[in-house]
Amino acid sequence: MNIDFHAHILPGADHGSDCLETSLRQVELARQAGIDVLAATPHFYPHHESLPDFLKRREETFLRLREALPKNAPKILVAAETYLCRGIEDIDGLEQLCFPGTRVLLMELPYDFSIRTYEQTLDVLQYERKLDIVLAHIDRYSDSVVDFLLGLGFQAQINADSFCSFRTKKRSMAWATELDCVVALGSDIHGCDVGYRKFLKMKKRLGATYDVIMGRTQKLLKL
Ligand SMILES: [Fe+2]
Repeated sequence: MNIDFHAHILPGADHGSDCLETSLRQVELARQAGIDVLAATPHFYPHHESLPDFLKRREETFLRLREALPKNAPKILVAAETYLCRGIEDIDGLEQLCFPGTRVLLMELPYDFSIRTYEQTLDVLQYERKLDIVLAHIDRYSDSVVDFLLGLGFQAQINADSFCSFRTKKRSMAWATELDCVVALGSDIHGCDVGYRKFLKMKKRLGATYDVIMGRTQKLLKL
């Protein structure tokens, strides 16, 4: 099974797709790449928008897409890419950001992340709210941040483009092949320019490891 865990494909939900036509093109590119399950993960910035407003926008944009989807489209799972902010642990209904039927939350770290600033928030999310946090695109962060958070038991998603860049390929390959906590891969598709070219390149470069990670995603999402 081919699962794209991280994609910005809801029309107008964020800067990933400006209109329905773009979204349908993205879904078609995913289908052509052999994607079976496509996670729609629009950005949720809790410091800019309330959760009810985000959920309303996500629902409206998803319904617009769903009505226009062709019969052969990949299965779409509606979730979110949630930006880590202090205080997020107190928001009621955070579970609605998780992948359907799970407590799996895809979380983006701020670029100025420091454990001192976010320790309390992460602790409550993990141990009191009992969310199963998957860190989005760990390839964007420093070794020290990634090592520290994975050591605390968080799971990780890696973006396809990091396997295709000379600068980042070695590190992503090492994580993917050596760490059981790498549970997902994503296109993080925005627009249609790159499409699934890098996703397919990643699949080829990872070989059997790709299937191992897809098996973990499948289990995590109870597919
Ligand atoms: Fe993203």
